[in-house]
Amino acid sequence: MSPTGRFVTFEGIDGAGKSTHVAQSIDWLRARGHEVLATREPGGTELAEALRELLLHRPMSLETELMLMFAARRDHLERLVRPALAAGRWVVCDRFTDSTWAYQGGGRGGPAERIAWLEQWVHGDLQPDRTYLFDLPAELAAERRASARAADRFEREDEAFFRRVREAYRQRAGQSPGRFLVVDSRRTIEEIRKLLEEDIASIGI
Ligand code: ADP
Ligand code: TYD
Repeated sequence: MSPTGRFVTFEGIDGAGKSTHVAQSIDWLRARGHEVLATREPGGTELAEALRELLLHRPMSLETELMLMFAARRDHLERLVRPALAAGRWVVCDRFTDSTWAYQGGGRGGPAERIAWLEQWVHGDLQPDRTYLFDLPAELAAERRASARAADRFEREDEAFFRRVREAYRQRAGQSPGRFLVVDSRRTIEEIRKLLEEDIASIGI
């Protein structure tokens, strides 16, 4: 892998401010002359975007949901993410496998051993270099979501679901403190923007 490219992911419960800051960070990196692949999960490739449509809008079992998430991820990694990293580009991805641990694991109660197995099978030792976890109490995130957009299948879940998702994220961050930066999303957009710029600068630009 090239010494210049980095794999950066953004995570958090719906409404915590992820999209706002993904966009700002990508603009900031590009303004400094970096080639950035801006992508998202589930999605990124034609096939994975088609799977995203199903995942966000069709009813399905937990098992189907879990396997479709990883199927989308495998296609995305093979066609887009790994080639970009190999070419020395930055990859900024809106959600990755930490979302699966949080939503299918924490939120839906999916079995940890199966998620771990799928994670290993689908991406082996590849993990993001840096993960920004936007952390916000579930009730505040629900308030922010309410004014923002029409809800998909995940966003229609109740507050207890999002409390479990948040807790699973925090646990996951606790297991890899070197990779995660937990961002307190109660801070202002401006404060968070500065903090992210400083951190991105520190990981290799
Ligand atoms: P996500 O992508 O995590 O679902 P968004 O970035 O879409 O969240 O933010 C949800 C809403 O909250 C938007 O209306 C956005 O403008 C607002 N928002 C984002 N960050 C903050 C913040 N730090 N303080 C107050 N409101 C915010
Ligand atoms: P997102 O792109 O954040 O939604 P939006 O476009 O509304 O901001 O994510 C789509 C949904 O997919 C989100 O509710 C979380 C869910 N998701 C999982 O449940 N597991 C996963 O592994 C991933 C990547 C996403």
